[in-house]
Amino acid sequence: MKKLILKTAAVILIVLLVGIQFFKTKENKSTQNSGNAITQHYDVPNNIKNILKTSCYDCHSNNTNYPWYNKIQPINWWLAKHVNEGRKELNFDEFNTYSTKKKLHKLDEVIKTIKDNEMPLKSYTLFHGDANLSDSDKQDIEAWAKKIRNVIQ
Ligand code: HEC
Repeated sequence: MKKLILKTAAVILIVLLVGIQFFKTKENKSTQNSGNAITQHYDVPNNIKNILKTSCYDCHSNNTNYPWYNKIQPINWWLAKHVNEGRKELNFDEFNTYSTKKKLHKLDEVIKTIKDNEMPLKSYTLFHGDANLSDSDKQDIEAWAKKIRNVIQ
């Protein structure tokens, strides 16, 4: 009896795992260049652009570079949640649509989240070692964010 219950549970689990593979979220991929990108409106030197692209853009831009395991559920849902939430908080490709107040606040948050090691997310750097920020990366971003802040103000 116990064996039968275990077998049934295993079969149900497998059917569910196979079944959810057919549900995929829409990918965050834009084919157009955003006219509102921070890079179009403010000075973003190449070294900063590279850091942001490598460490932040997968969750904070209009283009996510998805890993192969994004094809597997429930990982696909989990990654989509991070991308959606990250973009809702801050989208560098839509930065110029923000009010002055919001721009200043987001730049402050960039400085703060990097200093406190909150960004990039730990679950991300675990699989993207190159996204880890060095101390000099952090200093460069902070100096840059402060400079942009002064331009905006
Ligand atoms: C794997 C996805 C991911 C990556 C990569 C990532 N973030 Fe985030 N970010 C999020 C999510 C999800 C949130 C919203 C929830 C939260 O605050 O934890 C967020 C929120 C933020 C916020 C808003 C915080 C607030 O309270 O207003 C800032 C600023 C931010 N991220 C900056 C960055 C910067 C800068 C980088 C790169 C150095 C980065 N993030 C990389 C997912 C990510």
